[in-house]
Amino acid sequence: MTSFRSVVSGCGSYLPEKIITNKQMEDIVDTTDEWIIARTGIHQRHIAAEGELTSDLAIKAGKRALASASLTANDIDLIVLATSTPDQTFPSTATRVQAGLGMENGAAFDVQAVCSGFIYALATADNFIRAGQAKHVLVIGAETFSRILDWEDRATCVLFGDGAGAVVLSAGPGSGTNKDQGILSSHLHSDGRYNDYLYVDGGVSSTQSTGFLRMRGKEVFRHAVSKLAAVVTEALDYNDFTADDIDMVIPHQANKRILDATIRKLKIDPAKVAVTVHKHANTSAASIPLALDEMVRENRIARGDIIVLEAMGGGFTWGSCLIRW
Ligand code: UT7
Repeated sequence: MTSFRSVVSGCGSYLPEKIITNKQMEDIVDTTDEWIIARTGIHQRHIAAEGELTSDLAIKAGKRALASASLTANDIDLIVLATSTPDQTFPSTATRVQAGLGMENGAAFDVQAVCSGFIYALATADNFIRAGQAKHVLVIGAETFSRILDWEDRATCVLFGDGAGAVVLSAGPGSGTNKDQGILSSHLHSDGRYNDYLYVDGGVSSTQSTGFLRMRGKEVFRHAVSKLAAVVTEALDYNDFTADDIDMVIPHQANKRILDATIRKLKIDPAKVAVTVHKHANTSAASIPLALDEMVRENRIARGDIIVLEAMGGGFTWGSCLIRW
């Protein structure tokens, strides 16, 4: 049986110019460079300039992804944009990006699954392509988490940064086997019983204000390692692969200790894991496409490689995506 597969035909990313180092964080809250590095692996984070919006970051990443796919905005049928920090309550940030890219056709919408947002967006886009409803989809993860941080709460404000990453998915031929090129499968989960482990204490319907990010860090950490290892195993089992078949893991970049513990649990060689958390901190839905773009630019991914993306975030939400490059 022949079918469509979603092949990554281009990628791009953008980070705001301004960098705040851990040393600079010492002037903002009662913390130390040593504490932040030891507990998280983070050395610095990029922060959007005043007036620089999530859509601005997304448009820059999107343009780079389109250029790398040798496509123009009007070749795109659909934009799926993952964010928890939209420009406005509505319209969607995706439609602002659509206008910013000069795209006059197709459709655009946002997906909100916090740090798992990019996996959710990719899975959504993949289903449009496999159903034959779209040929080229621009999938973006873009965030300005600096705007929802409580800059007096040292337990959270040191952890996050701003940025955007994007990929173009294009329809390619598939035979329905694990030999196909493109997204082989994606696996999404959520469990709303954990809503209050990681949340923003405001919102349109509840407080009519934006609110600040709140987190029970230790509990999130514990759930992250077991859920991430399980959802990677689910993707491998589904495709008849083992951990040895993986050429590269591109995890959501929340904390180096979560990355290490998950990889240890899965018995994967740490050399096969993309790590950008030291430079970017946690950029939520943007972290996977930012890391993916860096791996591509460094030529660390080759045609035919088996790539696993995995993420976990507020909700809780978590998921994985297995791709043959
Ligand atoms: O995408 C998913 C999003 N989130 C995550 O993945 C985060 C998951 N959780 C974590 O990464 C870790 O739990 C943290 C990095 C947030 C915290 O590490 P921890 O080892 O769990 O530390 P803790 O929260 O148990 O705090 C230990 C101590 C506390 O002091 P006391 O009570 O022992 O005196 C905190 O007040 O560290 C203190 N502390 C800090 N000290 C210096 C908390 N934040 C800081 C800070 N600088 N920035």
